[in-house]
Amino acid sequence: MASLDRVRVGIVGCGRIATLQVLGYLDHPHAEVAAVCDLDLERARTCAAEWGAARAYGALDDLLADAAVDAVEILLPHHLHRDATLAALAAGKHVSLQKPPTWTLGDLDELATAARTAGRRLRVMENFMFYPPHVKAQALVRDGAIGEPLSLRLTTGAGRFEDGWHVPAETQRWRMDPALCGGGPTCFDHGYHCFNMARLFITEPVERVHAWIHVNRFGPDAFYDGPALIGWKYAGVPKFGTWEVIASLGMRVRSQYYPSDDRMEIRGSEGLLWVTRCTGRLLDEPALILYRDGETRAWHDLPTDWAESFRAGTHEFIDALRADRQPAQDAAEAAETLRLAIAAHVAACERREVVLTEIGPTTRAALPAA
Ligand SMILES: NC(=O)c1ccc[n+]([C@@H]2O[C@H](COP(=O)([O-])OP(=O)(O)OC[C@H]3O[C@@H](n4cnc5c(N)ncnc54)[C@H](O)[C@@H]3O)[C@@H](O)[C@H]2O)c1
Repeated sequence: MASLDRVRVGIVGCGRIATLQVLGYLDHPHAEVAAVCDLDLERARTCAAEWGAARAYGALDDLLADAAVDAVEILLPHHLHRDATLAALAAGKHVSLQKPPTWTLGDLDELATAARTAGRRLRVMENFMFYPPHVKAQALVRDGAIGEPLSLRLTTGAGRFEDGWHVPAETQRWRMDPALCGGGPTCFDHGYHCFNMARLFITEPVERVHAWIHVNRFGPDAFYDGPALIGWKYAGVPKFGTWEVIASLGMRVRSQYYPSDDRMEIRGSEGLLWVTRCTGRLLDEPALILYRDGETRAWHDLPTDWAESFRAGTHEFIDALRADRQPAQDAAEAAETLRLAIAAHVAACERREVVLTEIGPTTRAALPAA
């Protein structure tokens, strides 16, 4: 596979998250947004003008026929991920695909095969793994700052929907339809980040999972898949992780983005680590805190804006293409995160512990009945 000197990217889907995902292409010295595409051609034209892209398309096939595009950033609703990725790889483009990559392991395997056949790179973009406090926490764990990591506790606290940035109704609509989203907006969509964290901070593979997911309906077309409590066990060791989802629908969460209070606690044999924010910022507390030997150390000066995770993730993709190496989170890695996400849903639906090897190529992340 030849390396690229300058990465010319095509942005596919100019919706809500494109505004953050594009940042790393705009400020990287060896990248450019060459073209953009959206079903809504006016929106594509507006974004092309803003991002300095020479061409705007209203159809994916037209962008894929553009020889001056080396790689695509796929920012589409989930039901389009598979076909758009297959088409892009067949057209000879490298692909960065948003999480969750596909609905099933079988579909993701198909994408991996297509990438190999085409001789092109495929990575799944999961931005929490690039969030600077998470990156620093991972380095501390790796360097033994808390001894042996023993447990991981994640919480997602949603606040008032009206706080944070504007989310257009059409952006919400496909997430409220499991036939388009592939699962629910919280436990499947947002959940991909948390299930990925489960695998990053404790490196033994996850073996089994148990889950309660309550589906809270607000009307015929709107629901929130929470509260939820999902727990998992790592293979071969007495180590556990949990993810708790709770919506405090009357509480203000300060955020420039989604009003979501994301927190993480990692307990080790010799100390503790807390990451106190990600998408939003609830309290004026340090982003990262380490406890060890009766002392605490706090990091106040890490970049903590959620947008930085997108920027860093995009830079990693560009740098990998330029160095002719696989970017982080290839299809095999993504499959393990997806497997855990699907297993949690099966556990919640069937009200039992699920072993991850039970998840077959066509198993879907169905939601429990309300
Ligand atoms: N990493 C994160 O934290 C994060 C956050 C939000 C969204 N996302 C992911 O980004 C993706 C997009 O989410 P969003 O919130 O921006 O959605 P969105 O609905 O705001 O944007 C999707 C865009 O795709 C366009 N589109 C739809 N069908 C198309 C087609 N066939 N061809 C071309 N354009 C088409 C729509 O017109 C829209 O502009 C999803 O995969 C989502 O999971 C990730």
